Amino acid sequence: MGKKLLAGKKGIIFGALNEHSIAWQIALKCHEEGAKIILTNAPLAIRFGDTEILAKQIKAKVIPAEVTKKEDIEHLVDESMKHFGGQFDFALHSVAMSYNIRKKHPYTDLNYDGFMETLNISSVSFHKFLQTCFNRNAISEWGSVVALTFIASHRIFPQYNEMADAKSLLEGIARSFGLHYGNKYKVRINTLSQSPVKTTAGGGIEGFDRFWEYADLMSPLGNAPSEALGEACVMLFSDYSRYITMQNIYHDGGFSATGLTQNIIEAMTPQ
Ligand SMILES: NC(=O)c1ccc[n+]([C@@H]2O[C@H](COP(=O)([O-])OP(=O)(O)OC[C@H]3O[C@@H](n4cnc5c(N)ncnc54)[C@H](O)[C@@H]3O)[C@@H](O)[C@H]2O)c1
Repeated sequence: MGKKLLAGKKGIIFGALNEHSIAWQIALKCHEEGAKIILTNAPLAIRFGDTEILAKQIKAKVIPAEVTKKEDIEHLVDESMKHFGGQFDFALHSVAMSYNIRKKHPYTDLNYDGFMETLNISSVSFHKFLQTCFNRNAISEWGSVVALTFIASHRIFPQYNEMADAKSLLEGIARSFGLHYGNKYKVRINTLSQSPVKTTAGGGIEGFDRFWEYADLMSPLGNAPSEALGEACVMLFSDYSRYITMQNIYHDGGFSATGLTQNIIEAMTPQ
């Protein structure tokens, strides 16, 4: 049972494909805390994934949107406002796709059309959503928008390839739009930088399982699970974080601030 920190709040959650999706766990937490939710995903993902199963569980409406299409995003925001009877209070951007990782092109041999598609889906979509909301004044005062990111935006993880650049852009958009949205409508925009999680998107990265174990050993608290990220999102969507905006917040068990741990030394010591 939640503490109903989001009682009376309404929000849109992108990207819940299946129960492994980070957005799935966040949606469950927001529901537990009393929020009313609209789920969105690409039409194909809704057809072949489990979004509808989650929707039933949390009594959410599902509105398909292919995030590269401005008209889909506009439809999503307009229909959400109709459904909620006006403005909504929060949104979660939990969308990523890397063409070049999928096609196994290394960073030194990128396919540029694919690179643009990656940026379009994983980063520019965030701007499209924010701009659509801004122009309609769709988000209530002190509302809160969060996008999910990863530390590869700042430090290099070779297998993360072009997604590192996509995440840098995503975080930049959160800061830039945060200024305009804060000034005009007092809406907050932040990114949460999460530990690795075994999901469909995460699983596409070469050597992901070993990296997950390394990050776990390198984090004083261990890797943060999606359920805990759900709680951090609830905090950011709630009224208890009203002056936090334009930040990239690490939710990673301390990984980002750690140089070495005893666990890593022990793992590297010959038995
Ligand atoms: N898994 C990790 O280790 C990890 C760590 C840090 C941050 N993240 C971020 O979390 C977010 C969610 O990823 P996840 O790991 O839960 O994987 P996931 O595969 O479950 O979620 C990715 C979602 O993006 C959606 N999507 C892809 N292309 C789309 C499009 N064109 N239009 C609309 N939706 C589209 C997919 O349908 C899916 O629901 C991503 O931004 C990811 O980069 C993941």
